[in-house]
Amino acid sequence: MNSEVNIKVLLAARPIGYPTEGDFTIAESEIPTLEEGQLLVKTDWLSLDPYMRGRMNNVKSYAPSVEIGDVMVGGAVGTIMESRTPLFSVGEIIEGSFGWQSYAALNGVGLRKVNPALGPIQSSIGILGMPGLTAYFGLLDVCEPKPGDTVVISAASGAVGQVVGQIAKIMGCRVIGTSGTDEKVRFIVDELGFDVGINYKKENVGVSLDSACPDGIDIYFDNVGGFVTDEVIKRINTGARIAICGQVSQYNVTEPELGPRNLFHLTKSQAKMEGFLIYAYESRYDEGLSRLSKWIKEGKLKYKEDIVEGIRNAPQTFIGMLNGKNLGKTLIKVS
Ligand SMILES: NC(=O)c1ccc[n+]([C@@H]2O[C@H](COP(=O)([O-])OP(=O)(O)OC[C@H]3O[C@@H](n4cnc5c(N)ncnc54)[C@H](OP(=O)(O)O)[C@@H]3O)[C@@H](O)[C@H]2O)c1
Repeated sequence: MNSEVNIKVLLAARPIGYPTEGDFTIAESEIPTLEEGQLLVKTDWLSLDPYMRGRMNNVKSYAPSVEIGDVMVGGAVGTIMESRTPLFSVGEIIEGSFGWQSYAALNGVGLRKVNPALGPIQSSIGILGMPGLTAYFGLLDVCEPKPGDTVVISAASGAVGQVVGQIAKIMGCRVIGTSGTDEKVRFIVDELGFDVGINYKKENVGVSLDSACPDGIDIYFDNVGGFVTDEVIKRINTGARIAICGQVSQYNVTEPELGPRNLFHLTKSQAKMEGFLIYAYESRYDEGLSRLSKWIKEGKLKYKEDIVEGIRNAPQTFIGMLNGKNLGKTLIKVS
């Protein structure tokens, strides 16, 4: 078809602790040829997300592991170059799980057509995609915010956290975010309008929470777990709601950490702690996307993307994201 090759990032080894570049291999192959019913997509943008770390392990989870030698799993958005199915046409933009590769032959299942008129196409894997929807349903459905509630969000400057905080502000809440650098703290307060930012790596988190939340905490949107979560739980109010969205502080530990031993605070506060997966809300994605895009158009919702060029840079960028090097949604611009 053309002289280009398919560049693929494969899982080479299962990481112990934080992944290293040696856990990945870059391979080149011919661009796939299609069978009847398939389409060929050229990847424009690849999303890098914390959940991918779990797929590198060989353990039973809510989704299958990536096998050694297989293309790394990942959400992406791309352009259809060839189609042997009546359901998709050449030139259409689609979003789906094509993996870390520059081309993919797909059978059309699980793909969403992207309307480029709604915004930059990469937003379909960011604020108008999985992370944005996670923020939307995790906050509104799991945490049920009310005006005047005090909301704390961990990993507050990231793909999910930055959206949660702004929706909480739209809902009339007081919003506190924890982040790992002063730059991230300035970003959530100065650019996104959070009321307070706490640098959990520099500050005494308990003392800072006491000062930021003098009336206690009504909602905790937890992306990280660990000691930040322990400190938040000690300060929850009666009837508090805690959404366990993720536990990124635990994804790379080699020995399991002790879980929180302060859960009696939930009993005393008659509080709710609930884990959720965004996929459970699939039937309501249209509702979430239409409200998120309305808020973006109205200027109520901003978003920051952390863009790195070139699929060969995906491993180091992914490792960097797990170490907090990203500010905003981590994306690879593939072509
Ligand atoms: N439940 C679901 O369906 C669902 C869907 C999407 C995402 N998630 C979860 O949501 C969370 C956020 O995902 P995201 O895509 O928005 O990622 P992200 O926040 O854009 O990037 C990950 C961030 O995690 C923070 N981090 C890394 N190690 C940490 C540690 N030891 N302690 C505290 N923070 C640490 C870093 O920020 P700092 O510099 O602030 O440390 C890093 O920037 C993850 O836990 C992810 O698994 C869940």
